Amino acid sequence: MKFFIDTANLDEIREAYDLGVLDGVTTNPSLMAKEGISGEANVKAHYKAICDIVDDKVSAEVISTDFDGMIREGKELAKIDDKIVVKIPMIKDGVKALKYFHSEGIRTNCTLVFSAGQAILAAKAGASFLSPFIGRLDDISYDGLELIGQIAHIYQNYDFETEILAASVRHTMHLIKCAELGADVVTCPLKVITGLLKHPLTDSGLAQFLADHAKAAGK
Ligand code: E4P
Repeated sequence: MKFFIDTANLDEIREAYDLGVLDGVTTNPSLMAKEGISGEANVKAHYKAICDIVDDKVSAEVISTDFDGMIREGKELAKIDDKIVVKIPMIKDGVKALKYFHSEGIRTNCTLVFSAGQAILAAKAGASFLSPFIGRLDDISYDGLELIGQIAHIYQNYDFETEILAASVRHTMHLIKCAELGADVVTCPLKVITGLLKHPLTDSGLAQFLADHAKAAGK
């Protein structure tokens, strides 16, 4: 299972990378705006800065919503660094763009996926990654995790090569359940990754070991 961090914050990306378990980064226009990044040159420079931190797979999202615009923008993004994965929204022209980039050997991440039907279309079009947003489904009383299971089942039936990238992961149980259901990747905030560390029995057990060691050493 791969771990991506879902942020455009360079400090958080560094921290996750230093932990040694990071496989990639996802960003979106809202996350870039949160870091105050705007203007084409600044956006490109920021993507480059992210690529310089991690080993591979940095999702950079197009803003255009028409085929020609997505192709032009996606090509520009892909030129920034070999680590870039072009993020394309699940809309009609987006499906065509996924197919185009697949034929050009440019990796894509199909974003804003909320149904199994959309997942089938994206896989048929040759998306490298598929991003179902589970937290946003939960927000409106649909079961996001159920969708991950459904897509995993469908992709297995047909040996689709598209990797399921569970997105909008809000907490550690989302991540663990995604692992049980067979998601290939999860993308989440840093606190979800570090949250996996936590267990009170680990803390109390370590405190006891250290206390016993000190006692035996006569400290
Ligand atoms: C995925 O690529 C998106 O950036 C992200 O996971 C959306 O998460 P949110 O619903 O918490 O904004």
